[in-house]
Amino acid sequence: MEVKVLNTDLAQIKDEAVAITFFEGEKVLKGKGKQLDSLLSGGISNLIKSGDFTGKAGQVAVFYPQNGYGTKRVFLIGLGKKEKFDLDKIRAAGGRAVQKAKELKLKRFAFIYPDNLPAKFQNQDVAQALTEGVILANYEMAKYKTVDKDKIISIEDVTLIEKDSKKSSAINKGREIGEITSWSACLTRDWVNFPPNELTPTKLGEESKKLALKYNVKCQVLSPEEIKKLGMGALLGVAKGSQEPCRFIILEYNGGRKTESPVVLVGKGITFDSGGISIKPAENMDQMKGDMAGAATVISAGLGAARLKLPVNLVVLVPTTENLPSGTAYKPGDILTSMSGKTIEVLNTDAEGRVVLADALAYASRYKPQAVIDLATLTGACVVALGNVAAGMLGTDDKLKNRLKDASKKTAEKLWELPLFEEYEEQIKSNIADVKNTGGRPAGAITAAYFLKMFADGYPWVHLDIAGMDLEEKGKAYVPKGGSGYGVRLLIQMLRDWRR
Ligand code: BES
Ligand code: MN
Ligand code: ZN
Repeated sequence: MEVKVLNTDLAQIKDEAVAITFFEGEKVLKGKGKQLDSLLSGGISNLIKSGDFTGKAGQVAVFYPQNGYGTKRVFLIGLGKKEKFDLDKIRAAGGRAVQKAKELKLKRFAFIYPDNLPAKFQNQDVAQALTEGVILANYEMAKYKTVDKDKIISIEDVTLIEKDSKKSSAINKGREIGEITSWSACLTRDWVNFPPNELTPTKLGEESKKLALKYNVKCQVLSPEEIKKLGMGALLGVAKGSQEPCRFIILEYNGGRKTESPVVLVGKGITFDSGGISIKPAENMDQMKGDMAGAATVISAGLGAARLKLPVNLVVLVPTTENLPSGTAYKPGDILTSMSGKTIEVLNTDAEGRVVLADALAYASRYKPQAVIDLATLTGACVVALGNVAAGMLGTDDKLKNRLKDASKKTAEKLWELPLFEEYEEQIKSNIADVKNTGGRPAGAITAAYFLKMFADGYPWVHLDIAGMDLEEKGKAYVPKGGSGYGVRLLIQMLRDWRR
C-alpha cells in the first residue's frame, strides 16, 4: 500500500471513497466536518441526527451522496469521546476505514486529515499513527493461498487530504516514520505466520542477512561449529534434538557516536517448540511456530531503526533453533554448560527458551552494553497472569523499564511489571548444578525471568515475556488474525526517544 499526502480542498476529492472522523456526541459540526456536510447537502448532520451514527470509538457508517459530490462513498468513523482521545484512536480509525474499504472491495480511498483533535497532539504524530493504522490493517499473508488468491483484496492507495500546506512537512514526516514502523511490524507478522517447515533457523538467518545487506546493517550468522567454539553449550543442548542446524544471528547498526556503547536487543528464536522430550499436548501445538516472535521482533525493530537512521548504536542477538524430541535430543536430567560457564540442570526440555537465551545474554556482555532488552514468548504462566492484553516486564533497571513504559504508552502496546524478589531464587536452585531450568508452577513467569537474570550479569537489563502477545486470535482494528507484530513499534519508539 502507498500512503500519499495531497494538498487539496475537500470539494476537489475524487476517489472511490472518502473517510472522515468524528468525536462521539459531536453535535455542532466545525471545520472540515462542517464543510463536508455542506458539500453533501447536510447528509452528515442528518445521519448524526438519526442516531445511527454516534461517533463511538470503532463505529463506521457509510453514506452515499446523491448530490453530485465527486466521491460515491463517505465513511464516517467514530473516534469516541474527545476527553478520552489518544493517538491509538487515530490508528484504529485508519484501521477501520481500511477494513470497510476491503469489505466493499475498493482499491483506494481518501482520508480527510483530522482538524479537530486536542491541540497537544502534533501533526507529525497524528500522521504517523494514521499511516500505521492503514498499513497495519491492510496486512494480509497471502503467500500460501493458491485457489482463492484473487479473492484477497488489499488497498493500493490511501490519500491523506490536507489543504493547509503549512502542515505538509510535518504530515509527510509522520507518514515516512509510520511507513517504516509498520513495515517493520509487518515483517515480524510475516515471520510469525510463516510455517515452521519454511522458516527454519537457517532461513531466518538467510532472510536477516538479505535484509541487513539491503539496509546497511552488519550481519553475521554463526553456524553450529562457530557456536560450539564460543562455548554456547546451552543453545547447542536445545538444538541437539533437531536435524535443522541451529544459528546465532548478530546484527550491528551504528548510528550513534563511535565511543557510545550499544543497546543490545535479544530475541528468542525457537522456530518450532514441540516441547522436546517433555513433549507438549497435540492441541494448539501449531501455535508454537510463533515461538520465534521475540527474534522476529528484535530483528525487525533493528532494521526499522536503521531505516530511520536513528542516532543509536544497536546490536541484535538471536539464538535460533528448533526444539524437537529425537534420539539425540537433550533430556530431563541433562546438565548443560552455558557460555558464561554456569551449569544448567534441565528438568523440563520444554523450558528451552530461557536455556538458549542464557547463552545470548552472556554473549551480550562482550559489547559492554548500556542496556540489554530481551523479548521472548517465554512462559504459559505469563499468559495466565496477563492474558493476551499485556506483555510481562521484569528486570534489573528502573530507568530502562521507564523507557519501555513511556514507549508503550505512545504505541499502545501494553506491558505490565512483575517483581523479581530475591525469594524467587530458591525455586530455581539446583542440587547438582548452578541453576535448574524450571521453578515449578508458582510464579512461573517470574522464575523464568529470574533464571535469565542469572545470566544478564553486569549491565542494565529488562525482559519482556510476550508469550500471550505474538498471535492475535480475533482480529482488531489494525491487527488482523495471526502474527500481531507486537513489540516492534514499541522498541522503535523507545530507540527514537533514547537520547531525549
Ligand atoms: N514457548 C513456550 C511458552 C509459550 C506458551 C508461548 C504459550 C506462547 C504461548 C515455552 O517454551 C514453554 O513451553 N514454557 C513452559 C515452561 C515450563 C515447562 C516451565 C510453559 O510455560 O509451560
Ligand atoms: Mn517450550
Ligand atoms: Zn518455547
